[in-house]
Amino acid sequence: MEKTELDRQIERAAELVLGSQYPVALVGAGMSVESGIPPFRGPGGIWTKYGEPAMDGYDRLLQDPKGYWLERDSDTGPMAEFRETFAQAKPNPGHLAIAEMEALGLMKCIITQNVDNLHQMAGSRNVAEIHGNSTKLRCIGCTTRWPKEEFHIEDYPPLCPHCDGIVKVDTVMFGEPIPFDVMARCEGETQKCDCMLLIGTTAEVYPAAGFPAAVKAMGGVLIEINPLETVISQRCDVVLRGASGEVLPRMVERIKALRPATGD
Ligand code: APR
Repeated sequence: MEKTELDRQIERAAELVLGSQYPVALVGAGMSVESGIPPFRGPGGIWTKYGEPAMDGYDRLLQDPKGYWLERDSDTGPMAEFRETFAQAKPNPGHLAIAEMEALGLMKCIITQNVDNLHQMAGSRNVAEIHGNSTKLRCIGCTTRWPKEEFHIEDYPPLCPHCDGIVKVDTVMFGEPIPFDVMARCEGETQKCDCMLLIGTTAEVYPAAGFPAAVKAMGGVLIEINPLETVISQRCDVVLRGASGEVLPRMVERIKALRPATGD
């Protein structure tokens, strides 16, 4: 059967991954669209529907932490809609393909901007959540994190038992600094990366959006997986114009067909 352009690009992407020492994925909301979670921008995006949120959420938390908690539990507005989709979401074939790459030793770290926990549910282990995880709470003082179900809130605002800092949901708010521990981890992984897969991200929000340029500056290669053009497409060595849930499994199949037979 005649090879399509996408087939040829998938072949090229598989060859680049196999030829790299330290592949890393930078993942955005598009990765979870096929799990039923809307993206932020573009068709069906939450910000497209409701408009970009206020950038002062974190400042308002610092001024009125109790109000933050009471407002959070209100069941209206975009974030409530978001939270509802999270509850039913399951990993899609794209998440499973990335987990398989990790098992093959071909995915050293997943830097995800998503907070939906779907990579862990798919079996991935090395996941750096630069925007946090919606299933966890975090102290903004010492960055201690807890699974929500393991932190019993007696009074608002909940305070950290270690440092008395304010405890909030781990998800990073607009205006909130990226927690220093995960930021250091993402920078360290980016420094080692020689092949970055940009999966389902507009690559417009910093600091994550700066990682592909850093990989390129060190002579690394970029592979974009996205049905639409983005600001970074022109700088990518390979562009796979398709949905990650369809394209990633096909790429992993080609990787397994091309990789040298191993003893195991
Ligand atoms: N497969 C792959 N990519 C897809 C799919 C799909 N099935 N569907 C949509 N996309 C692409 C869109 O074309 C778009 O480029 O996913 C991207 C989603 O972009 P955004 O909604 O901007 O998401 P993201 O890049 O993760 O946003 C970064 O912005 O609002 C903040 O904190 C929020 O983490 C988020 C950050």
